[in-house]
Amino acid sequence: MAIEDKIKHLMDMRDQARLGGGEKRIEAQHNKGKFTARERIEMLLDEGSFEEFDMFVTHRAHDFGLEKQQYLSDGVVTGYGTIDGRLVYVFSQDFTVFGGSLSEMFAEKICKVMDKAMKMGAPIIGINDSGGARIQEGVKSLAGYADIFQRNIMASGVVPQISAIFGPCAGGAVYSPALTDFTIMSKGTSYMFVTGPKVVKTVTGEQVTTEELGGADVHASKSGVTHFVSEDEKEGIMLIRKILSYLPQNNLEDPPLTVCEDPIDRLEDLLNEIIPENPNKPYDVKEVIESIADYNEFLEVHQNYAPNIVCGFAKFNGAPVGIVANQPAYLAGVLDINASRKAARFVRFCDAFNLPIVTLVDVPGFLPGTAQEYGGIIIHGAKLLYAYGEATVPKVTIILRKAYGGAYDVMSSKHLRGDINYAWPMAEIAVMGAKGAVEVLSAKELKKIEDNDERAKFLVEKEEEYRNKFANPYIAAKYGYIDDVIEPRNTRFRIIRALQMLSTKKDSNPPKKHSNLPL
Ligand code: HXC
Repeated sequence: MAIEDKIKHLMDMRDQARLGGGEKRIEAQHNKGKFTARERIEMLLDEGSFEEFDMFVTHRAHDFGLEKQQYLSDGVVTGYGTIDGRLVYVFSQDFTVFGGSLSEMFAEKICKVMDKAMKMGAPIIGINDSGGARIQEGVKSLAGYADIFQRNIMASGVVPQISAIFGPCAGGAVYSPALTDFTIMSKGTSYMFVTGPKVVKTVTGEQVTTEELGGADVHASKSGVTHFVSEDEKEGIMLIRKILSYLPQNNLEDPPLTVCEDPIDRLEDLLNEIIPENPNKPYDVKEVIESIADYNEFLEVHQNYAPNIVCGFAKFNGAPVGIVANQPAYLAGVLDINASRKAARFVRFCDAFNLPIVTLVDVPGFLPGTAQEYGGIIIHGAKLLYAYGEATVPKVTIILRKAYGGAYDVMSSKHLRGDINYAWPMAEIAVMGAKGAVEVLSAKELKKIEDNDERAKFLVEKEEEYRNKFANPYIAAKYGYIDDVIEPRNTRFRIIRALQMLSTKKDSNPPKKHSNLPL
């Protein structure tokens, strides 16, 4: 073959590979409102930066007539490129080839990019759109999944791993995204479940639709399986780029610094007035977060799951941090099972990737009741406690208002190696709220008062006495548990100063194989 023919042959092969399962199936994909595997990669990476691996890979199966159906790339597009100039590895499942189902070679291609990502210390992004195990390949396909899982596990805490779900993701296939750090689902076109509606109907008799069982909204609000929901794929892809802008390339690097033109000493007068006079009245802690962060920008994680705690990324003077804040506007900011699990995982993520943690506290305690106790709030609450106590990154805590009971300890207190702990003058640091405390402390006296008016008057006086004594930050400050009481409008500046001071922090945990955190 002449050289020009060889080059033409190469170009033809490339064109063929780029067509995936063919024009008809690409059209069907578009008709469902979905992009193809390659289009998604194009949108994700910096323009022209994609380098593809293994375009000419085909499967090795011989059963069920599969030997006659060969598609170059075998249903998954893999390679590397850059996002904002930084190296990332990517795999994108191609639904137009055997429904994106996973074969032996498909899995090998994914493993190759995961291995490269680990060697080079760069994030891995997986775009999922697949009918699961390629049925014709049987156990080879199952083995391929496990090979990927093993790599997800090894990469955990070493390089950031992000999963996008832009189509089906069912059966054991769900466990790869579940092992990664963040999952994004697009509304209407994606779903995740261990068993689909038909099996559910047979086994439990329950009748549910695909959307009700494993759609984006369900996993964003009920199960917490997905951290982000996007209106469409484009928005989901832009979210991946945004998340990475807060993260280091790997666990040995610091998060990326950017130039900040937002004044570090910007005073926020609204913060001096945001706490209502009545301690039982809510306010929105996100207003506090947004007002103190660079350019008022906050990327919330798990927005619709356990909204009584708020987690997400922000920057202070150009340096990324993780923020955890109780949300008084939802269930009074109480800590329950879901909030504890959500925040614990986020704190551990931040610690793994060298992101300082800024904690804003306004918490009335743990949620009481049989539902919580039977559900294991003791174990789940311990997760958050554990995560904070284990974390060695800089930890800056501001008590805005309530810090009651065990929740005071849990929320990045000085006693769990909090580095800088400040309180606003409105802070109430106590074992419990005034009402509950008086009922316990004055139970005997209360029993003796028969007249209702007198009883009410007595309660008001005692509660006032308790509040005067404990509903302030100065007792904690007296013992050094609070480093300073700060003016609310100056919070941004004080946090930035604290983070600057802590930027060279070194701390460690004792040598061990791994911890035994309460799972
Ligand atoms: C081989 C598959 C396939 C699979 C789909 N296809 N799933 N081929 N193995 N698992 C093929 C179809 O034959 C079809 O080929 C093409 O992909 C598109 O599929 P359609 O059914 O036409 O598409 P759609 O109507 O959109 O339905 C998509 C779907 C459905 C819901 C994903 O295909 C489906 O239910 N597939 C089977 C899912 C499944 O049971 N997977 C195994 C799960 S168990 P043509 O040639 O017509 O285009 C599992 C275990 C993993 O995954 C364990 C890991 C530890």
